[in-house]
Amino acid sequence: MSDVTTATDARSESVEFVRRLPKAELHLHIEGTLEPEMLFRFAARNGVETRFTSVDELRAAYEFDDLQSFLDIYYQGAAVLRTEEDFHDLTWAYLERAAADGVRRAEIFFDPQTHTDRGISMETVILGISSAIERGSELGVSTGLILCFLRHLSGEDALHTLEAALPHRSKLLGVGLDSSEVGHPATKFVAAYDLARSEGLHLVAHAGEEGPPEYVWQALDVLGVERVDHGVRAMEDAALVARLVAERTPLTVCPLSNLRLRVVDDMAEHPLPRMLEAGLVVTVNSDDPAYFGGYIGANFGAMIESCELSRDELVTLARNSIEAAFITGDDPLFSDFDAAVEAL
Ligand code: HPA
Ligand code: ZN
Repeated sequence: MSDVTTATDARSESVEFVRRLPKAELHLHIEGTLEPEMLFRFAARNGVETRFTSVDELRAAYEFDDLQSFLDIYYQGAAVLRTEEDFHDLTWAYLERAAADGVRRAEIFFDPQTHTDRGISMETVILGISSAIERGSELGVSTGLILCFLRHLSGEDALHTLEAALPHRSKLLGVGLDSSEVGHPATKFVAAYDLARSEGLHLVAHAGEEGPPEYVWQALDVLGVERVDHGVRAMEDAALVARLVAERTPLTVCPLSNLRLRVVDDMAEHPLPRMLEAGLVVTVNSDDPAYFGGYIGANFGAMIESCELSRDELVTLARNSIEAAFITGDDPLFSDFDAAVEAL
């Protein structure tokens, strides 16, 4: 057997190894799971026009220079989502894919303002997504829903959005913050996060994706987040890394997203192995898999291929995801994980 074949076999064995490890996915935007085929299907059934004429043409448009160039296309795509059924179907399709990759817990982001700002009711969005995630147990996936504020909009908008969602408080796990990072400081969102905290919601925020370490400090100190989404640029600040390690604050890293949005130039240079080595509680996630080339299994696959992660490192990444999930210590996922590792 040639060396190339041996290396390829070893990689596919590692990918299968990861698939068998119970995992949590903690950084996944439901709007980012809108596959081109689904986009055309929803557009047709809702009578919504798109400027693209074929799946191939749409996929070809998924060439991004940075976060903003992605967001421009992503918000356009979301315009085909109009009914509870659309949100249900989108969410169910994601859960099926996640379950196939060995995801046993999914904490899913949604962006209500993307929908309410074009006349879709909060109720349609939340009930549509919830009707799918409440059936996640049929696939062996436990779920939670995290409402994200769009950070390019105002702090007041964020507060009103949360107030409008509170009649559905029982369907929410937490709040987060996404969209354009640089130039939109966390300080705008203190009131919305204070309300979320007083409601007993968990707190997360995107920070340190394109923004410098200062944005991560602010997410921790100004918003009081429990987890940082992305956070790869934290590695530029040794004091920040020391704090994240000491407090075991998880970082939800998204390798394919970082490559496609040019946060890193080359997957072989991705900071994830160095983050693990530094003792950070890093996890692997897919962010917007329909736009970035793959679901959680593909993200692990890309890291395995380019960074040659060891089996121990893969086990640590999966264990970190369960530790970082908003579940209680007696959740069966912990013992299931230990049993799965034992059986490997
Ligand atoms: N960053 C910021 N906003 C987003 C992202 C992201 O990676 N994905 C969807 N909205
Ligand atoms: Zn994200």
